[in-house]
Amino acid sequence: MLSLLTTVSLAVAALGAPAATDAPAWRFDLKAHNSGIVALEAIVVDTSLVVIFDRATGDQPLKTSNGKSAWGALWDLETSTVSPLNVLTDSFCASGALLSNGTMVSVGGTPGADDGNFAAPPGNQAIRIFEPCASPSGAGCTLFENPATLHLLEERWYPSSVRIFDGSLMIVGGSHVLTPFYNVDPANSFEFFPRKEQTPRPSAFLERALPANLFPRAFALPDGTVFIVANNQSIIYNIETNTETILPDIPNGVRVTNPIDGSAILLPLSPPDFTPEVLVCGGSTADTSQPSTSLSSQQPASSQCSRITLTPAGIKAGWQVEHMLEARMMPELVHIPNGQILITNGAGTGFAALDSVGDPVGHSNADHPVLTPSLYTPSAPLGQRISNAGMPTTNIPRMYHSSVTLTPQGNFLIGGNNPNMNFTPPGTPGIKFPSELRMETLDPPFMSRTRPALLTMPEKLAFGQKVTVPITVPSDLKGTTVQVALMDLGFSSHAFHSSARLVFMEASISADHKSLTFTPPPNGRVFPPGPAIVFLTIDDVTSVGQRVMMGSGNPPPTLE
Ligand SMILES: *[C@@H]1O[C@H](CO)[C@@H](O)[C@H](O)[C@H]1NC(C)=O
Ligand SMILES: *[C@@H]1O[C@H](CO)[C@@H](O)[C@H](O)[C@H]1NC(C)=O
Repeated sequence: MLSLLTTVSLAVAALGAPAATDAPAWRFDLKAHNSGIVALEAIVVDTSLVVIFDRATGDQPLKTSNGKSAWGALWDLETSTVSPLNVLTDSFCASGALLSNGTMVSVGGTPGADDGNFAAPPGNQAIRIFEPCASPSGAGCTLFENPATLHLLEERWYPSSVRIFDGSLMIVGGSHVLTPFYNVDPANSFEFFPRKEQTPRPSAFLERALPANLFPRAFALPDGTVFIVANNQSIIYNIETNTETILPDIPNGVRVTNPIDGSAILLPLSPPDFTPEVLVCGGSTADTSQPSTSLSSQQPASSQCSRITLTPAGIKAGWQVEHMLEARMMPELVHIPNGQILITNGAGTGFAALDSVGDPVGHSNADHPVLTPSLYTPSAPLGQRISNAGMPTTNIPRMYHSSVTLTPQGNFLIGGNNPNMNFTPPGTPGIKFPSELRMETLDPPFMSRTRPALLTMPEKLAFGQKVTVPITVPSDLKGTTVQVALMDLGFSSHAFHSSARLVFMEASISADHKSLTFTPPPNGRVFPPGPAIVFLTIDDVTSVGQRVMMGSGNPPPTLE
């Protein structure tokens, strides 16, 4: 066996290598002109299937079997086609995740209101279940809801969620009602699915983070606690003791949650210590004591990224500040299997939400879409981590109500953009940013070359138990660096990827390049039990991902 331990320093050596001049490049690829509904939420539920959700306004082009406009659909990554899902309640502004038994759950959404726009029963207490689907094309697969027997404890519009160490879902915050901008009727509490108790747990932290505390960004840390950032504040929450530890504020007055959306990501975790670090980028320094009408769509967003190491020494050192190449409201931060972070989407000025600033552009509170992605290299020195060298530029704005997800194929699916109340087609007078139905992928350079392949993978992986699987490695790859990533691709909604996670595994390839041996994480705190995608990256060329069940596949709560 070659001794090719997956370490951060080896990865840096590969990433720092100059690209050959004829090397394939990153590119945007327009996959479809019409996704049928606006892909404002997206979650990969199978090798080639993505569930997308829109708002129930009764005017989307895609129709369900009963002839009504759809607001949920299955996107097929193989064929770039869409098929409607029957959704009962309004899934607009929900969150969601995959549970330890592989079931996808979507939680919360929009309350019914009497403004005539709503074509569905209230979704703000909804729990929507999509069981693992036997058909690769999704044929016959359905979403299950029964509001009378299966619902959240509290109404939640704009909540977020995170799969935790026992494979269940922690649901964080939100608003009881639909609000135009600030959170004026907050659900400042946590609850769990399946329930751990019969009343929500009040959160003093969410109270302090008013009024811009919607879609809090939460991460399950490798010791089982949960990091949460909302507005300009952050904590570590201990589920088992129901206590919070207050962390330093985000520096320089930058606020990062809806309606002042920055984004946040748990940086890749590496063995043996899995030391957690969080990166928070974008948002705005807006003064939240002002009414939204005194804010402007032309007000520059923040370019600040803040990073903290969640160890006692790291917390004492506080947030380290660096800057993106441009300001971004509603940026998306997404894991790349080689350990870099994709920074994409968003707007250079303004805010999230609709029609609430003094000078909306059409209905959009934001303007100046940012059209060129950047890459963030966590292991590079401060000041040299962010680059857009060689990155392509799209002509499709992706701001409010857009989504992006890494796919099992290793590229990124990007959809949506709809800073409008209803479905608003291109050409609508006075509308600069119509409802966007075009679906693109952003393809890394390796998509256009021969890639390593994971030939087979066990259906389930046991925590801490080494496995060996057959692989192929293209003959032009030396095997200098070997990285094996265990990933949750997350649930994309409102510039955040709930439960997204990348855990590197200790790995080596055989001298003949025909087999790979790797060690899954030690327990369900490092990677909450449930579905995962394994990617093999050799010399910065990534394989197609293989779906596995990390752990027993038992329903939550399951301790492993
Ligand atoms: C965070 O926001 C609060 C409320 O606006 C403000 O009092 C505090 O100074 C801010 N913290 C920092 C570090 O700017
Ligand atoms: C998975 O667990 C959830 C939560 O208990 C449950 O609602 C769902 O039906 C389960 N799915 C399967 C396939 O067992």
